[in-house]
Amino acid sequence: MCQQISDTQKKKVLSCIQPSGMLTLGNYLGALKNWVSMQDEFDCTFAVADLHAITVRQEPSELRARIYSTYALLLALGIDPEKNILFIQSQVPEHTALSWILSCNTQFGEMSRMTQFKDKSAKHPENINVGLFSYPVLMAADILLYKPDLVPVGADQKQHLEIARDIAIRFNNKYGEVFTVPEAYIPKTGARVMSLQDPSKKMSKSDDNPNAWVAILDSRDDIIRKFKRAVTDSEACVRFSPEKPGISNLITIYSAVTGKSAEQVEREFDGKGYGDFKLAVGETVADALAPVKQRYDEIIKDKKALETLYREGAQKASKTASKTYFKAMKKVGFVI
Ligand code: TYM
Repeated sequence: MCQQISDTQKKKVLSCIQPSGMLTLGNYLGALKNWVSMQDEFDCTFAVADLHAITVRQEPSELRARIYSTYALLLALGIDPEKNILFIQSQVPEHTALSWILSCNTQFGEMSRMTQFKDKSAKHPENINVGLFSYPVLMAADILLYKPDLVPVGADQKQHLEIARDIAIRFNNKYGEVFTVPEAYIPKTGARVMSLQDPSKKMSKSDDNPNAWVAILDSRDDIIRKFKRAVTDSEACVRFSPEKPGISNLITIYSAVTGKSAEQVEREFDGKGYGDFKLAVGETVADALAPVKQRYDEIIKDKKALETLYREGAQKASKTASKTYFKAMKKVGFVI
């Protein structure tokens, strides 16, 4: 006999993404694809993490446009704002408020070990601000406010997830149970999509070389051109191997989009050259993203509808966030 899972039995999921009009194929395969597929089975909360974005300098009008476009892109990808909570982080003040309480329960030494802080401060030596340093504490607050069981992210966020878990465990031990200790949910294929120009580096929208990354909203021609130019090796054999990072990255991308295993991909392109393979990957990715771009172009036109959705999203998010925040405040000893 089939058993229906009631909403109260559903496991909880939370994840966020920084606003950029240029979300990449890495964001999609590492995280967003899972967000979309998890919405039926789980009770999901997703946010545009705009507060995190100002850890690097932003031009205000561009930031505003990117927040809109990221929210619209999440809708275009198929995140349903009725079924899930979909909001903008800065509209729920409990994130920054809890972040302060958690900061006072996090050690300077722990934060100093974060590789993303080291990377970003090396990249922006003129702006190593305190927010960049304490970023993982704000991320812990984002997560812990909603008591999720699972947090779908790419592999680069694993260290931040671990620190969020450590902070939750420490707080619960010190003050009494408030937070759920979440698990990272990292996809088997696509957790770390690499640059198309330097496969030793993660694919990132901040890469100066625009051929290194594919944006979800890139045109079909651009996507195919970028894959044609992808850096590979001289062996001309489609084989997954640590010695062939460029071609292995393309196999991973093709596998993640088609659902085929690496062995199946190797068999499919046995005896074929890199030209054929790169074209097939480019076309497959372009086909998968085309409907998203089409929906996005429609959604972004209607600012009023977007505003209604994100305001409703923030109201729904606030209900859960304020409950958890007040519980944490009480435990710490504040009066309410
Ligand atoms: P962000 O905005 O850099 O990336 C959003 C998601 O995309 C994944 N990702 C990738 N996955 C595979 N290959 C890549 N090349 C790649 N690039 C990015 C990231 O792992 C992430 O899952 N700190 C977070 C945002 C955040 C957050 C949170 C996430 C803020 N609060 C709470 C989870 C829970 C970030 O900067 O992700």
